[in-house]
Amino acid sequence: MDNIEHTKNYRFAGYDTVELAKKYGTPLYVLSEEIIRSRCKELKSDFLDKYENAKAAYASKAFLTMAMCKIIESEGLGLDVVSGGELYTAIKAGFPMDKVMLHGNNKSYEELEMAISNDVGRIVVDNTEELYIIEEIAERQDKSVKVLIRIAPGVGGNTHKYITTGQKDSKFGVPLAKDTIDEAVAKAMKSKHIELLGMHFHIGSNLFENDSYIAAIDIVINLYKRLKDDFGFIAKEINTGGGFGIYYTKDDCVKPLSYYTDSIMKAIEDKCKELGVDIPAVIIEPGRWIVGEAGITLYSIGSVKEIPGIRTYASVDGGLPDNPRPALYSARYDAVVANKYDQKPDRQVTIAGKCCESGDILIWDLKVPEIKRGDILAVFSTGAYNYSMASNYNRIPRPAVLLLTKDGEKVIVERETYEDLLSRERVPF
Ligand code: LLP
Repeated sequence: MDNIEHTKNYRFAGYDTVELAKKYGTPLYVLSEEIIRSRCKELKSDFLDKYENAKAAYASKAFLTMAMCKIIESEGLGLDVVSGGELYTAIKAGFPMDKVMLHGNNKSYEELEMAISNDVGRIVVDNTEELYIIEEIAERQDKSVKVLIRIAPGVGGNTHKYITTGQKDSKFGVPLAKDTIDEAVAKAMKSKHIELLGMHFHIGSNLFENDSYIAAIDIVINLYKRLKDDFGFIAKEINTGGGFGIYYTKDDCVKPLSYYTDSIMKAIEDKCKELGVDIPAVIIEPGRWIVGEAGITLYSIGSVKEIPGIRTYASVDGGLPDNPRPALYSARYDAVVANKYDQKPDRQVTIAGKCCESGDILIWDLKVPEIKRGDILAVFSTGAYNYSMASNYNRIPRPAVLLLTKDGEKVIVERETYEDLLSRERVPF
């Protein structure tokens, strides 16, 4: 990775990771503010400033804390939230609500009410029924709610099947059946309290090709044209979701942001011109791309077990509870032994987590120098969907999150304690 500096200990974003592990304990999530901000700046220079009609929101499900809200706010991006909890975090952080977009395939009445009372900028509606609930709440509160309708464009992404969403057979979005779409559009357009701005789609996550975006754009702009003809509907926005792929291992063929965004913009412009419809504003909502490579996780090596002629397992003090991605999606990661960064990785070990679960393997066949108890392992690209997906399985407390800033490192989430694990329990005997 480009942020590696060659010293004895592995340094991340200018910090000695072995010192961080010593000072804050392990496992430890470490995030670089500078890398997060540099991604936001790239988004600005290569997309927002380049195109007049471009907008971007950070998909907060990738990683959300109040401190992260502050970073995203100061970088001028919007925020995509997908639950009452994410919305609550944004509210508590004082995030500007007009820049918040609420998603979700099953928003509760309470979540919709919370969003509308707080005047969120957009609600991305997943089905017609939701429009009735929004109308009822908005009428009661005498508000007008800006919505996009999420459609399932029938285009899948080339990624793990658990993180592809745009295909026909998906729990997300209104299916591309004429009657169903028309019912939703007619309902939204008729409502005095709903302002229908356009459509949203999200193909999937960690995509390395742009073809599925282009295919979905073709479908959505064709739909705009038909809705214009049938209902006089003028689409002001199109939201093309997130999903840009990042670097996990050397097998990932990472593309620059503009590879996706330039082709998205061109496809929209070309298709709108071809069909004679107005070019809408374009919203993208990357999560992983902003925060994924900005994070690493530090672990301590514990037991090292060699099975002669088979393999060596080196176990770390975390695993599946702080990073469920290898178990869920067969996700692959790369890592270094941080305190032996200058030593030649001349052997191979499998990095196992500490859970009572054979599937709790973080990395198969990692090249390392001689490895033993007490060594510090730094696993790369854990900024997205690690902390946000962490659990307490096996009653393992969640790690702290440390933000590396220009003014030193700051704990932005404290390490959980055993007391925290019991804090909501009541014993009725
Ligand atoms: N917009 C919508 C509507 C989404 O559903 C998602 C991700 C995003 C944006 C952001 O996608 P990104 O840019 O981060 O790829 N837990 C899985 C990823 C699930 C993503 C769900 N939706 C993982 O760890 O790979």
